[in-house]
This record gives sequence, structure tokens and C-alpha cells, in this order.
Amino acid sequence: MLTLKGKHSMVYVEDGKAIKIFKPQFRYNFWKEVRYLTVLQSQRFVPKLFDFNPEELSIEMEFINGIFIRNFIKQSDSEELRRILQRCLDICYRLDRMRIQKEEMNHPGKHILIRDDKVYFIDFERAFDSPNPSNVTQFITYLCSKQILEKAEINKPPVELLKEYKRDYSFRSYMTLKEAIFG
Ligand SMILES: Nc1ncnc2c1ncn2[C@@H]1O[C@H](COP(=O)(O)OP(=O)(O)O)[C@@H](O)[C@H]1O
Ligand SMILES: [Mg+2]
Repeated sequence: MLTLKGKHSMVYVEDGKAIKIFKPQFRYNFWKEVRYLTVLQSQRFVPKLFDFNPEELSIEMEFINGIFIRNFIKQSDSEELRRILQRCLDICYRLDRMRIQKEEMNHPGKHILIRDDKVYFIDFERAFDSPNPSNVTQFITYLCSKQILEKAEINKPPVELLKEYKRDYSFRSYMTLKEAIFG
């Protein structure tokens, strides 16, 4: 059995399942992860939720046997990378529209997995409901790091477009922003 150590939990991998067991002092994080995995089950970009147990603070979910985005960036070609990054940004937009702040999207290196060309977001234990979420803008900060900017051949968007997007979160302002980044 494969065992992975998280900051707030231990993750045991067996038979295609990941069992995440929270440390006792992080029971509130356990409930948040259960909540957001449940809410997002219909969205196809989170692991399937199989079961959870409040007494053990354990969550049984699909194990996504994929590649972390931070490694994917190094090993993919620029065209593949652009496609995957656009998909990630679309997922961030979906979360923004659902008024869910995932947090840490400015350093998602180990929170996004790519498997069979599909993108999965993991680790929702810090998520919260917010009237003005910033998943898109945080992820853009990540996209604008030198390494990604160069490899994916993307452009830093003008600040006005970011502000405009945050004003109304409309599909139109999102698409304008995306177009400015990916051309
Ligand atoms: N559903 C999953 N599929 C694949 N790997 C996972 C899954 N859940 C957790 N992991 C692995 O376990 C590690 C720790 O999980 P994570 O949710 O980040 O824990 P923590 O929030 O305690 O830091 C992750 O970095 C990842 O390698
Ligand atoms: Mg975590």
C-alpha cells in the first residue's frame, strides 16, 4: 500500500482508491473537504467521492493516478500545455461562478493532476464560500511565472481586464481575459 503524507492528513492508496485521513486537530478541514467534494461531484474535475467517516475523519475517494501540473509543465510540449492550462483556467472560472474559493490557486503545483488528457483538482480542505472568489486571478498569477509564460507562449493580461473580470464575473469578460492571455 502506498502512503502519502499531506500537511493535514495521511493518504493511503489501495485498489484505485485514496483514503485521506485527517489529523484530529483538522476536523474542520475534513468537513470542508467532504462538503466541496460533494458539491462538485457533478463537475467531472474532482475525484469521485465514495464514502466518508466523521469518527475516523476519513474520506474515501477515487485515486487519480496522474501527473502533477508542476511536472506536466516540464514534460509536455507547448501546444499540449496551452490546451491543459486553458482547461485549468476554465475550471477556475467554473469555481468562481459557483462562488467557491478553492485557495492556493497561485501555487497549484500539487493540487492539479493530469490523467489521460483530463484535468483534476484535488485537496478542497481549505475551500470556502465567497461572494468574490479569485480562483481565476490567482491561477493567472501562476501562469505569469517566467517558466510557464515562456514555455506556453502566453501573454501577461492588462490589469484593467483583470479588474473588469472581477467586477461582474461575466462570461464575456472572462473570454476577453482568456483571449488576452492565450491569444
Ligand atoms: N484523490 C487523489 N488522487 C491522487 N492523489 C491524491 C489524491 N488525494 C491525495 N492525493 C495525494 O496525497 C497527497 C496529500 O494529499 P492532500 O489532499 O494535498 O493532503 P493535505 O491537504 O493534508 O496536504 C497529495 O499531494 C497527492 O499526492
Ligand atoms: Mg492540503
